[in-house]
Amino acid sequence: MTRKAFVTGITGQDGSYLAEILLSKGYEVHGLIRRASTFNTCRIDHLYEDPHDPDRRLFLYHGDLTDSLQLTNLLYDVAPDEVYHLGAQSHVKVSFEMPEYTGNVTGLGATRLLEAVKRSGIKASFYQASSSEMFGSSPPPQDEDTPLRPRSPYAAAKVYAFWMAVNYREAYGLPVSNGILFNHESPRRGETFVTRKITRAIAHIVAGKQKYLYLGNLDAKRDWGYAPEYVEAMWLMLQQAQPDDYVIGTGEAHSVREFVDEAFSYVGLDAREHVKTDSRYFRPTEVQVLIANTKKARQRLGWEPKVTFGQLVRIMVDADMESQGLKPIGEGRATLSRLGLNHADRALVNPTGGVER
Ligand code: NAP
Ligand code: GDD
Repeated sequence: MTRKAFVTGITGQDGSYLAEILLSKGYEVHGLIRRASTFNTCRIDHLYEDPHDPDRRLFLYHGDLTDSLQLTNLLYDVAPDEVYHLGAQSHVKVSFEMPEYTGNVTGLGATRLLEAVKRSGIKASFYQASSSEMFGSSPPPQDEDTPLRPRSPYAAAKVYAFWMAVNYREAYGLPVSNGILFNHESPRRGETFVTRKITRAIAHIVAGKQKYLYLGNLDAKRDWGYAPEYVEAMWLMLQQAQPDDYVIGTGEAHSVREFVDEAFSYVGLDAREHVKTDSRYFRPTEVQVLIANTKKARQRLGWEPKVTFGQLVRIMVDADMESQGLKPIGEGRATLSRLGLNHADRALVNPTGGVER
């Protein structure tokens, strides 16, 4: 029997990589997409299949995490074996501007989906996309037992969703797992997250379209990994005999300043000539340092990231250079083929450039 997966957030960075690996493993993939007045499926367009093809394995449905009726109907109709809940308002800075909406989508959205699984009576394993942002002010390194001290409306919503996932596991015996993922990036990362904002700006500067890059807190440290490796961890969690919660990261932290320096020097530019700070990109409360302790995931899932910080920077800069029609330096591409990672991504390009955060 073909296994079926239901994925929320399939049009996002992680959802697009997850859909790829699930299809490559032979799954039928059912994804929830939001109706928009323009197409918002650019990250999964390469996976699109003609709806008239009787052998297709990718199915897309309009829906929204605020629409519990539609979620329940879809889960009942699709009857998936695995549910990956990745949909969220995922931007921390935006969550300070839209705290209620973020609570509704990122927090209550998880409850709606868990309840939809319960009400539809299906026996699906459930993955909740929890976040290292939940650790907030708890000092590093952070593991599964570290206290959750959220510092943003986004993090508070994720903490609520985390505990609802645990509650549905304990109260109703549903096989629900939390993946507590540290920051993971790629050429498909949204353009307003800091790594992508930096690599995209570099390509624009080299192309002569931009002179300065305005950033916020350069001292914050993050544990940055390569997104395609992290979606493999999501899948591994749902293949375990027992549901559980796992921290996923690299165990190494770098500051935003280090990312900037590494990326600018890769293309032979001096960051000091191009990078300025702007108060609008600072947050009312900040998470200063995140560093994962992944002992449990390594021992129980056998999961180990391969891509290093420097390699990640090069992969992303190369992809953004290519998206601007520039010749990439090439080390990023070489890394992917050396590691046998078949992700020769084109960078996600939004023609309007988006609103910077
Ligand atoms: P992303 O690129 O921002 O994707 C978010 C997805 O959620 C998109 O498909 C988006 O649809 C969808 N979505 C947003 N609001 C929705 C709504 N009201 N109804 C239905 N769908 C909605 O995020 P990501 O980086 O792939 O992250 C995936 C998940 O992991 C998120 O839950 C995020 O919070 C969590 N997480 C991410 C990281 C990380 O470093 N990337 C780390 C820890 C946890 P549109 O395409 O239409 O906007
Ligand atoms: N976005 C952004 N833009 N961040 C900036 C900027 C800027 O101009 N300048 C400095 N930063 C700093 C932020 O203050 C933060 O400390 C760090 O760069 C990383 O910011 P983001 O890339 O926006 O990611 P995040 O860590 O806040 O959140 C991401 O990772 C979480 C996991 O820890 C998101 O993907 C969340 O959805 C995810 O849960």
